[in-house]
Amino acid sequence: MSDIAKLQIGEKTYEFPLVKGTENETAIDIKALRGATDGVITIDPGYKNTGSCQSAITFLDGEQGILRYRGYSIEELAEKADFLEVAYLLIFGELPTKEQLDKFYADILDEAIVDDDIKKIIDAFPKNAHPMGVLSSLTSALTAFNPSSVNVDSEEDMYKAIVKIMGKFPVLVAWTLRKKQGLPLHYGSRKLGYVENILTMMFQKPNDEYDLNPIMINALDKLLILHADHEQNCSTSTVRIVGSSHAGLFASLSAGISALWGPLHGGANQAVLEMLEAIKEDGGDTKKYMGKAKDKEDPFRLMGFGHRVYKNFDPRAKIIKKAADEVLGDLGVEDPILDVAKGLEREALEDQYFVDRKLYPNVDFYSGIIYRAMGIPVEMFTVMFALGRLPGWIAQWREMRLRKEPIGRPRQVYVGENLREFVEIDKR
Ligand code: CMC
Repeated sequence: MSDIAKLQIGEKTYEFPLVKGTENETAIDIKALRGATDGVITIDPGYKNTGSCQSAITFLDGEQGILRYRGYSIEELAEKADFLEVAYLLIFGELPTKEQLDKFYADILDEAIVDDDIKKIIDAFPKNAHPMGVLSSLTSALTAFNPSSVNVDSEEDMYKAIVKIMGKFPVLVAWTLRKKQGLPLHYGSRKLGYVENILTMMFQKPNDEYDLNPIMINALDKLLILHADHEQNCSTSTVRIVGSSHAGLFASLSAGISALWGPLHGGANQAVLEMLEAIKEDGGDTKKYMGKAKDKEDPFRLMGFGHRVYKNFDPRAKIIKKAADEVLGDLGVEDPILDVAKGLEREALEDQYFVDRKLYPNVDFYSGIIYRAMGIPVEMFTVMFALGRLPGWIAQWREMRLRKEPIGRPRQVYVGENLREFVEIDKR
């Protein structure tokens, strides 16, 4: 293939260089398009064909169902690594040595305390507030309590900001749950690992010990790893674009949390569970819901199915489905909605509508079943997704700032009224 793309507009031909990635992905570099063509731009709503950046963090091949963080396969990481190792890998580019990991965690623990006044903000939220709204607000509030902006030219400053948010975020996550459940807020312990601390801060009762269950630790480690990054999705692109205005890290993350909340993105895990429950309550008639999903007059979609990039099995879904069977078995939980989910999947995989559109279960289809077996309330599912995605967002924000990317500012094709004269109010 030549390394030039030719574009013909009217009589004129323009040439643009091709950019190749390390996995041979090819893009047409149109940076010079507008200047060269007297104002012609490209249009691509939803950015289905648009690369917003070059990135060395996550590789995803949607046709083959491949996902790798920094070159390591998701299957191997989910089996062999723990979440903190993966966080380090994503953010800094290499797997940590034992010393690096120990230091990283010690530094995180030093920051795993939030200003006590944050409790006043939590108290002001109604108990029935959605935890994602609370988490997004609290993450934004951290900016007010830690006002110094990050000097991205200083590695030390950058590192400090990263360990700060890696330390404080799990505290906020756990507190959104405890607030909802009316439990006193809890700080965990320096003696516990990162994931152990999360479980303890979420679940320890004020009058009891909390027995850490290795099955729960493994399950949560795995789920967080599987959610840790997914290249330029809606929330990650949000973090990058907000950060591109040089807004701070916490403000960028807070915007990312809001983007994740939507049911077409991270909010799908809550929507899946609610859908499976509704199908079960309705007598388990999966065929009826398959019909609704295919009916173009019906807004219902099969939640947890389909993906913008995967046109083959989502590799994360394969791992989670297996884990769901194992975790429920190990915890001795029998959940009839697991059968509803498996039934829906079987039908969808054989249904022409789903086959033609290459719609497979995605990461959110089975994750909620595991969260529920762990005792996590359904409204917290997307918060758990955010907890997992945190290192990915940080890594992408860091990469964007270190590469000195320009402010994100798309163009548009204006289709509104042409110039018209103002009409006084009494003459309208
Ligand atoms: N149920 C029924 N039909 C669907 C579904 C679905 N879940 N997903 C896509 N389709 C159909 C859609 O109606 C369209 O049909 P047609 O060509 O006849 O108009 C076709 O498939 C292509 O869909 P699209 O909406 O153009 O595809 P997209 O790439 O814009 O959307 C998606 C991707 C994930 C938003 C979509 O598949 C969806 O809404 N899925 C359900 C929500 C969900 O599970 N989201 C979690 C995504 S994975 C976690 C994450 O990273 O956030």
